[in-house]
Amino acid sequence: MKTSLPATLPSHVAIVMDGNGRWAQKRLLPRLAGHRKGVEALRRCVSHCAERGVQILTVFAFSSENWSRPPEEVSGLMGLMASVLGKEAANLQRNGVRLHCVGDTSRLDADIRERLAQAERQTAANDRLVLNICFNYGGRWDIAQAAERLRLQGETITEASLGQAMALAHGPDPDLLIRTGGELRISNFLLWQAAYAELYFSDVLWPDFDAADLDAALDDYARRQRRFGKTGEQVRPGPARQEETHPPKEKNGC
Ligand code: FPP
Repeated sequence: MKTSLPATLPSHVAIVMDGNGRWAQKRLLPRLAGHRKGVEALRRCVSHCAERGVQILTVFAFSSENWSRPPEEVSGLMGLMASVLGKEAANLQRNGVRLHCVGDTSRLDADIRERLAQAERQTAANDRLVLNICFNYGGRWDIAQAAERLRLQGETITEASLGQAMALAHGPDPDLLIRTGGELRISNFLLWQAAYAELYFSDVLWPDFDAADLDAALDDYARRQRRFGKTGEQVRPGPARQEETHPPKEKNGC
């Protein structure tokens, strides 16, 4: 059952799922154990976003820079991605979630590419929630690939054409960008698309991030005033806008 919606719910939530490694190290476990626990947190988050009525969830699962981690961690994350795709596709399908993989898939193993394509095909008709998994993704890569695509097509580079050539052009920009794990950085995530996202930083390590933590972020978002470059007075419902929706009685005449 859907819980009650806050006054202002973000349509698109993006998350930097940080803190898996520290979660594992605190328990004297290998870092990969933290990533495995992170998958459980992601599953909870997908389910809660769908329940709350969020329409798009975009998560940073493997960055362009993560290749420089220890080889066993890189291969562990690749294996995790393959197994998540294998095991979770049916679950996503049952829950009406449409999966998109966002990033440079050319460097991934053929097996993972095939599983990705298969999971995207299997969930293509779903519309309850779109889940964008950013894998081998970087904001700078995205801007560069979009510009290169336009150059090859001989198109002029404008804000509109570049935006349309981006890897996330299939949806609106994120409204709320959450980073867990206590660090205050964007780390090359959605550099273009997050131009007007509201930022929310949580100290909770990703594997511990639960529905209540997500609710806290959504509630915080509901209290923000989004101005998009305008003044507070312009976006706040003032007398002029109130008149439009609630005309004063004397003006209603008889
Ligand atoms: C950052 O934490 C997290 C990652 C680089 C991987 C995120 C992956 C998952 C949450 C699992 C879902 C995975 C797939 C493949 C769908 P960190 O390792 O930088 O943590 P630290 O800052 O504590 O070291």
